[in-house]
Amino acid sequence: MKAIRERLESDGVDIIDLGAGDAPLDPPPAVIATLREVAGDNSYSRYGFQTGLPSFREAVASFMERRFGVVVDPWTEVLPLIGSKDGLAHLPFAYVEAGDAAVIPDPGYQAYLGSVTLAGGVPHLVPLRPENDFLVPLGEVPAAVVARARILYLNYPNNPTTAIAPDAYFEEAVAFCAENDIVLAHDNAYSEFGFDGYQPRSILEFEGAREVAIEFHSLSKTYNMTGWRLGWAVGNAAVIAALTRVKTFMDTGPYLGIQAAGVAALTSWPDWVAGNIAVFQERRDHAVAALSAAGFDVVAPKATMYLWIPVPSGESSNEFARRALEAEGVIVLPGAALGRGGEGFFRVALTVGGDRLADSAARLGRVAG
Ligand SMILES: Cc1ncc(COP(=O)(O)O)c(C=O)c1O
Repeated sequence: MKAIRERLESDGVDIIDLGAGDAPLDPPPAVIATLREVAGDNSYSRYGFQTGLPSFREAVASFMERRFGVVVDPWTEVLPLIGSKDGLAHLPFAYVEAGDAAVIPDPGYQAYLGSVTLAGGVPHLVPLRPENDFLVPLGEVPAAVVARARILYLNYPNNPTTAIAPDAYFEEAVAFCAENDIVLAHDNAYSEFGFDGYQPRSILEFEGAREVAIEFHSLSKTYNMTGWRLGWAVGNAAVIAALTRVKTFMDTGPYLGIQAAGVAALTSWPDWVAGNIAVFQERRDHAVAALSAAGFDVVAPKATMYLWIPVPSGESSNEFARRALEAEGVIVLPGAALGRGGEGFFRVALTVGGDRLADSAARLGRVAG
């Protein structure tokens, strides 16, 4: 796809990229101002180690309390991450021995599958399908897998299906992990991307979760800071300690200046984030209307920055995405790129605004024929 894109671009084709979840929007002004301010202060240029900037840990703890009512100890229940991917991908190295299993949603963010595999584990992929409301049906995981499972990855609001989980499902997942001695790794990268008044929950709001769960948060999408690489893990102190230990062998923590900028981001949350999410909600509304008019069967998601749309033509998602690029210059993500369970769907990221969305919907309509 990259090669095709480069060829088309050099031929002067106007490409619209709805592929990666990486919107070219600005971070909060306070984030930029803070980085400028600390960049010349050499105390921020030293190693951060895993402890990192104390004020970042404190800002995370106060965000968790203010946003979710979850009270955590910033020193033992929080860990700064070089983006949430850092924590998601290093967790198996703390828990998965050769031959152990991990239960992984399919389609899903590929760091779960890749890291479990690299750690020598056996991924047990569970298809996310419309008939299960794109939830992992925990009761259907075979007993032999449950017995060997060390980690259950969940991600709601979900990338790519846009599904949200009802409270009862989170309760069931906590009970399932407690009963079977499994670490519940909840990827909450889209925690702030709720629409129409929907406010995604933290797994840590649910009774018993603190015994079994670690949750991963990201500044990437909420604050338009994908390239800055900052996130955090929060949850069970023993799991946080194990992940911290693994990371001491892998990295030396995020740059302290970026952690200072992260404090500014979290401090801006009450005033800034709602406006940013409103931009995506408006894009969602435009895109849903335009793609429906172009003949697609598209449901307005309650959360995330994506649309998850059935491939209309009966061809593979890869083939549809390839034709969309070749024929019309539109990049979408084929569902199969995020696992076989994603076959039959393609993903649109709401990375462009009004007119460009309308244009891309019209182009995709022509691809569907
Ligand atoms: C579901 C999910 N989890 C985690 C991440 C990684 O985010 P970060 O930039 O914090 O590493 C992404 C990024 O696209 C994602 O979609």
